[in-house]
Amino acid sequence: SFQVFSHIPSLRRARRHAMLAGESVGFVPTMGALHQGHLALIRQAVQENTHVYVSIYVNPTQFGANEDFGSYPQTLSADLKQLRSLTTEFWNDDSLGQITAVFTPTTQDMYPGLKPTSEVDGHGSFVTITPLSSRLEGASRPVFFRGVATVCMKLFNIVQPDTVYFGQKDVQQTYVIKRMVDDFHLNTQVRVVPTARENDGLAMSSRNVYLGKRRRKVAPVLVRALRAVRVGFTNGLTSREELLSAAHSVVDEELAKQRALPPMWRSLFEVDYFSLADREHLTELDNVNPAHGAVLSGAIKM
Ligand code: PAJ
Repeated sequence: SFQVFSHIPSLRRARRHAMLAGESVGFVPTMGALHQGHLALIRQAVQENTHVYVSIYVNPTQFGANEDFGSYPQTLSADLKQLRSLTTEFWNDDSLGQITAVFTPTTQDMYPGLKPTSEVDGHGSFVTITPLSSRLEGASRPVFFRGVATVCMKLFNIVQPDTVYFGQKDVQQTYVIKRMVDDFHLNTQVRVVPTARENDGLAMSSRNVYLGKRRRKVAPVLVRALRAVRVGFTNGLTSREELLSAAHSVVDEELAKQRALPPMWRSLFEVDYFSLADREHLTELDNVNPAHGAVLSGAIKM
């Protein structure tokens, strides 16, 4: 099974042993409350590495002052149990690596001097990736990607992974991380793993527990909107306006349905953004070149 490391020096010693043995380390950073989406990253990582390190750390600096840092689900013992039962899946297959380290750092170690009530005070260094971090998801969450990039830089420097694994669900995050790895010449490969979804299409997420029953039923409107755009693209549409209007039609229809319900049964929501962006830089496109494709993403707020 794996070892759980709460402090940096002991994890570094384990990493050094792997390095001296010439064994590769794949790294899956998470904030815990593990689900099949996280496990998909780990499954990919054991196929490509001898060792897989998983971190579980709810990173305070990526939460805005009005966000859910205080209520983010923390289920460490259930997480470790899931990881232990996952390791038994890998035992019988010699071609697979194994989860050998789970890193659960403390905020004292990760951010010496960070005051719990403030994102900046008393803490010196941040990684900012501009202008990518202020667009899409970053428009309504101004400190989010700075926090993500900063904690990932710290984690990558501690773990020194050969390869890191990120989910396509958070597609902009994958662009931020790739950009950081390139710009800072980090000696790490970045792999992106497809989104794991529930049966009705909703992307798995630790935060889905916030939805409750009623909103949970309506939430797949987001994936339906995205799929409607993909259908339009497959049928030959290329202009931003035509493509995104397919998404807005799905959303508007669902909103009309909700408004027709008695108030106590309604699940209203609003569109945060839909983005149709270039695959290289994630800049917004007016037209999609069918030969190149595009990155479609979006967020709704319930
Ligand atoms: P967290 O939300 O726990 O996600 C950890 C990793 O799992 C991310 O790479 C995310 O994209 C991936 N993931 C989550 N749900 C997924 C799904 N349904 N399908 C595929 N992959 C999925 O993302 C973070 O944590 C944090 O920002 C972090 C990178 C750990 C930095 O704090």
